[in-house]
Amino acid sequence: MSDPNPIIPAELTEEHQHPVRERNDAALLSVRGLTVRFPTDDGLVNAVENMSFDLHADETLGIVGESGSGKSVTSMAILGLLPKYAQITGSIRFRGEELVGQPERVMQKVRGAKIAMIFQDALAALNPVFKVGDQISEAIATHKDMSRKQLRERAVELLELVGIPNPAARVDQYPHEFSGGMRQRAMIAMSIANEPDVLIADEPTTALDVTIQAQVLEVLERIRERTSSSIMLITHDLGVVAGVAERVMVMYAGRQVEMGDIETIFYRSNHPYTMGLLSSLPRLDRRAGNERLHRIKGQPPSLIFLPPGCAFNPRCPYAKHNVCDTVVPDLRELGFDHRTACIRAEEIEAAKETAG
Ligand SMILES: Nc1ncnc2c1ncn2[C@@H]1O[C@H](COP(=O)(O)OP(=O)(O)O)[C@@H](O)[C@H]1O
Ligand SMILES: [Mg+2]
Repeated sequence: MSDPNPIIPAELTEEHQHPVRERNDAALLSVRGLTVRFPTDDGLVNAVENMSFDLHADETLGIVGESGSGKSVTSMAILGLLPKYAQITGSIRFRGEELVGQPERVMQKVRGAKIAMIFQDALAALNPVFKVGDQISEAIATHKDMSRKQLRERAVELLELVGIPNPAARVDQYPHEFSGGMRQRAMIAMSIANEPDVLIADEPTTALDVTIQAQVLEVLERIRERTSSSIMLITHDLGVVAGVAERVMVMYAGRQVEMGDIETIFYRSNHPYTMGLLSSLPRLDRRAGNERLHRIKGQPPSLIFLPPGCAFNPRCPYAKHNVCDTVVPDLRELGFDHRTACIRAEEIEAAKETAG
């Protein structure tokens, strides 16, 4: 297996590598050096490269990146749902216990009960031939010993929690009797049925119209208030995380490029890719009709043939020849809980300050 990336010159390594400071409180989920590759007929797909992050109790972490940046592969790795041929290295610890390499029977106990997933497509997650309430009960019965009566009561309670009106009647209906938005809520009810410690929501709003999107985010907020679940909210839309997440991780071509609290990411980002995502967000202070969104030019690279140096350099307006196309930037700490993988981050920050 050949490493597509050149070795970092020693002088740059010293200057740019700082040890990553971690928060002291024990993380619920601790990912270290996670790397996932898929051997394919076209070559080795470098889907996720050397990811490290913590998810703390009672927090919502937003994971943002364009389609194909490795967001779903990361969540599938956490849930142990990657195909057998995937080459996984690194560590994923849940409450200190290693999940990488665990057999399926162990992961089955983790999935749903400790770490649960909200899927993008509620139709695919719900079985059309069973009543919604029975499907929720089934999800609970897999992990807990409860009577039929208790299961039904719990299903009603969960439907109520996700904002389904008249849950005592709805519990006996079939998925086709629910509207799209209601089905999405029912699926979320199923995901939280076992009060998981970690809830992974992978693009939970992408297939939905704007009104239902907002409702689903509201449901996530309510889950946060009423349960103690930590949430990983995965989206390609930086706007979606704005009102929901405390911390944000930005991914590009399978790598973390920036990570920080929400204020830092929105107001003090110093990674050109994040800055590009921010400038393509619609803004209220621009006159309607006069709206000109800046899109990031070009396409994300092939994960089989990554460009040398920083994977973003071919699209980056700040790219410096012989530096950015040669050196793979490390994710380094540039402020409290703010990490950036850009060699020019300080220069960019200084330039932003001068520009006001
Ligand atoms: N089973 C697989 N086999 C080969 N390549 C895969 C497989 N699953 C995902 N990939 C590739 O991994 C990359 C990351 O995919 P994914 O995590 O789904 O992106 P995202 O969720 O950010 O849109 C993509 O290039 C995708 O084609
Ligand atoms: Mg995805």
